[in-house]
Amino acid sequence: MNEDIRKRAAELRQALHRHNYLYYVLDEPEISDAQYDRLMQELISLEATHPELVEPDSPTQRVGALPLERFETVPHSIPMLSLENAFDEEDVLDFDRRVRRFLKQDSPLLYTAEPKMDGVAVEIVYENGRLVEASTRGDGYTGELITQNVRTIKTVPLALLNTVSMKTPSRLEVRGEVFIPIEAFRQLNKKRIDRGESPFANPRNAAAGSLRQLDSRITAQRPLDIFCYGVGMLTDIEFALHSDILQALSALGLRVNPHIKPRESIEDVLVYYRDLLDRRHSFSYEMDGIVIKVDDLALQRRLGEKSRSPRWAIAHKFPATQETTRVIKIDVQVGRTGALTPVAHLDAVSVGGVTVSRATLHNEDEIKKKDIRIGDTVLIQRAGDVIPEVVKVVKTKRTGSEQSFGMPSVCPVCGSEALRLDGESVWRCFNANCPAQVKERIKHFASKGGFDIDGLGDKLVGHLVDGGLSKSYADLFSLDKAALTSLDRMGEKSAKNLIDAIKRSKHITLARFVHALGVRHVGEHVAHVLARRFKSLMELMSATAEELIAVDEIGPQVSESVRAFFDNPENQRNVERMLEAGVTLETEETPINEPLSGSTFVLTGALDSMTRSQARACIEALGGKVSSSVSRKTTYVVAGKDPGSKLDKARQLGVRILDEREFLVSMNYKAGGA
Ligand code: IVH
Repeated sequence: MNEDIRKRAAELRQALHRHNYLYYVLDEPEISDAQYDRLMQELISLEATHPELVEPDSPTQRVGALPLERFETVPHSIPMLSLENAFDEEDVLDFDRRVRRFLKQDSPLLYTAEPKMDGVAVEIVYENGRLVEASTRGDGYTGELITQNVRTIKTVPLALLNTVSMKTPSRLEVRGEVFIPIEAFRQLNKKRIDRGESPFANPRNAAAGSLRQLDSRITAQRPLDIFCYGVGMLTDIEFALHSDILQALSALGLRVNPHIKPRESIEDVLVYYRDLLDRRHSFSYEMDGIVIKVDDLALQRRLGEKSRSPRWAIAHKFPATQETTRVIKIDVQVGRTGALTPVAHLDAVSVGGVTVSRATLHNEDEIKKKDIRIGDTVLIQRAGDVIPEVVKVVKTKRTGSEQSFGMPSVCPVCGSEALRLDGESVWRCFNANCPAQVKERIKHFASKGGFDIDGLGDKLVGHLVDGGLSKSYADLFSLDKAALTSLDRMGEKSAKNLIDAIKRSKHITLARFVHALGVRHVGEHVAHVLARRFKSLMELMSATAEELIAVDEIGPQVSESVRAFFDNPENQRNVERMLEAGVTLETEETPINEPLSGSTFVLTGALDSMTRSQARACIEALGGKVSSSVSRKTTYVVAGKDPGSKLDKARQLGVRILDEREFLVSMNYKAGGA
């Protein structure tokens, strides 16, 4: 084979490794997605024509291994220990005293303080800079070989970067925690529930379940991320400090948490702990505490370990976001698609500072699996801002008077028959005119991602439906003041406000319109994809199932659901009525070069990678708007370092919050990927 081709392939591989690192690990891409894709395409075609060029660490080889039958096990060359826990500050001070007594040192010790990630511990082995093996912690001595799954994690480099500052070690066993960020977790669960699958209880379970897949193509679809926090065996390089190791890992292209800090004394560590505890909800991922490590490696070696944990490190957990309380009753809510969701009503209890009186039980199988009964004492938890959930029943508290709960065989709102279809985990009410469904559909229709009708909240929708004024969202456009003022508690002024708001909403983009319709499996993103492909409502409505499936990102499920929706005469009539009532659709739906048109951003706090005016320029270049204050109209709040009260406001209003990384990734994705 031509030597030039071999050289070009090597060049491309190296360039792609570097751009992966810049994009995923540093969030500082130097090229657009389109340029990246061109490099990748070139490498893919070179490798296709010269298969002998394919190497396991080629950036083309992240996913694609065949499913396994079972996981092999591997021994860890150095055991993966666990950590002792400090439950309060006194325990932490005790730890410091113990360590200094052991070392016979009076002066303060240098420590590193690190966020303790709540995920799954893994070990990844690099030989001569190439990822060759990855395993779980297992029992600490042997773990399961999950190499092909770990390779799918985008922030895990398949090849280490070459750096001038050090030579590539012939063997590096790096250890870290694999996790799923909170927002990604929420989206993942939402998708699962939409598909009738049971949701994960928390981000940690989701990460563990994703790594345990025998088919790595499934793992590849999960939003896994990693922070590396240490090493097992490491050849060729000597380090003096743990913090030097972390710096080296970072230089080699591995992802290390930027919030890890060297501390001059144990008192400084406590300051760090309190600060992180205060701010922990502003992070995009969950931490369950901090890990404190003696920084000096020679001292670590002198301290050694006890049976299962080192003497030189300790974990200081955050107070639990779990509490126990009692299930008073269980009722069933009816969603927009008719799904019946059991909800536990609880004795109100404060969990991590927030009063909780309800928890979702998800579906029948979850209740059975956890054997939750009315009257039970249960352990509940809040994960980030996620809806509280029941972790487990405290069975020892059972008195015998608890009552089992069964899903109702009729819809609790409209009384029509409820069914659980084969292969689904949810019971559904199939009466499309069920008032609960109608209300939810109208709420969805009027929400921010749809018609964005100001002031049309829960209560008002309830009055409209119960008062017989709206049987569907199409009725909103023929509401008049006289009818509205006939409703309880509706004055002239509120009636006028509502009518004005509805009028203002009539001019809408195709994507928002499609999203507002509430077609099953068509969320905001899919609606955009459809709008972009079909350009007009008529074209979309008349697209065949085959034409729909042919669209990138649209699968059979979405395609069938879209067809079924538009084939339904009532839906057709509703669409017609809305158009007759003066709803106009923007023909040029989000021009390709303005993917952010219609989105409003608010920036708060400092960004590492750019100034505020650069960020503004970036958003505006993609068609978005930047506003200085947060309101219901805000699409995203970008929270940098030390964010101000805007972040609190965003939380209150439920506005989507992006951290810097998410912001950059989405900018870059939108800039290149559209
Ligand atoms: S160091 C010998 N650092 O916590 C030291 N562990 O209970 C062993 N973890 O299995 C671990 N974040 O999965 C360390 N920054 C961090 C960590 C961390 C999370 C997990 C890890 C380990 C468990 C120890």
